[in-house]
Amino acid sequence: MNTSQFISKNLDKTIEKVTFTWQTPSNIALVKYWGKSNPQIPKNTSISFTLNNCHTTTSIEFEKTSKNTVVDFELFFEGKKKDDFKPKIAEFFKRIEKYCPYIFEYKMIINSENSFPHSSGIASSASGMSAIAMCLMSLEKELNPNITDEFINKKASFLARLGSGSASRSIEGPLVVWGNHPEIKGSSDLFGTKFPYEIHPVFENYCDTILLVDKGEKQVSSTVGHNLMHNHPYAENRFKQANENLTKLSKILQNGEIKEFINLVESEALTLHAMMLTSNPYFILMKPNTLEVINKIWQYREENNSNICFTLDAGANVHVLYPNTEKTEIELFIKNNLAKYCQKNQYICDNAGLGAKPQ
Ligand code: DP6
Repeated sequence: MNTSQFISKNLDKTIEKVTFTWQTPSNIALVKYWGKSNPQIPKNTSISFTLNNCHTTTSIEFEKTSKNTVVDFELFFEGKKKDDFKPKIAEFFKRIEKYCPYIFEYKMIINSENSFPHSSGIASSASGMSAIAMCLMSLEKELNPNITDEFINKKASFLARLGSGSASRSIEGPLVVWGNHPEIKGSSDLFGTKFPYEIHPVFENYCDTILLVDKGEKQVSSTVGHNLMHNHPYAENRFKQANENLTKLSKILQNGEIKEFINLVESEALTLHAMMLTSNPYFILMKPNTLEVINKIWQYREENNSNICFTLDAGANVHVLYPNTEKTEIELFIKNNLAKYCQKNQYICDNAGLGAKPQ
């Protein structure tokens, strides 16, 4: 695989002090990434809707220093020094130092905040890592003004992936594919690519309401979960199925077959959790209210001939997905019938968005 294209070169300019700020969103996978090999290479292709309202805003102040042997940075989260987040970011810098050697020449002060409530169970690694990657690419553009916007997005996704796999899908939108797939032009294991075909209008501005069923810390981190796919009895079939689902979903997104979309997306969510139920050690991330909500969604869909459906990430929260044309009635249904299953009745209304925004 050609990773050498991402080693920065021609960094001719000297910058003494500069600050960049980026806002990057979270994303919700339709075909799930679950299982990886080193270094952050997915076992199957995944695709996600980029979100809009759930995002991280990060600014990095870069100040030139003499060349360090370790990357020198400080981290503030929501205005407070956050030393417990540092090891994860230090590990990320280790993974990317070969591609961005200039990070040894700057002292970095990183300030970050999320738009969604802290410990809401919404994974912040995708938005968090992609925001740092965009700030680094802004510095790289200053050092080498010849790099193109296309390269910036590609390399930002490549870097973000090394921090957290799903972060590679948070640079662009509204639909991003990560992982090499024969039917997705330009797709790669190394970075996310914007879905390259025209999307049927029914999937435009697609809505995602996130029901905060359980805001607690996850008992099992994604990293541990991914690792449990090694030697998992169903792993090979799962990876094959995910790649086949991607082929199907690519067609569905183009031809607008929404009933097939619902079937595939819900099946992906339940299969992800089935992998957790059947790993060793096994674990359950759904809560009783996750199942209550799923049953209510199925009942509402049946009774109202609605196109509402759900997906799950690695947690108990439910993402309720629906077309923009059904927004009014479904938001009412959520408020009146689903909010009660959420902690403190809390949920977040979101929709598909376009990715990273400079601030
Ligand atoms: C269930 O991207 O959080 O949300 O690469 O170890 O950081 P790491 O894992 P992460 O895994 C996300 C798993 C998922 C499915 C998905 O987003 O595709």
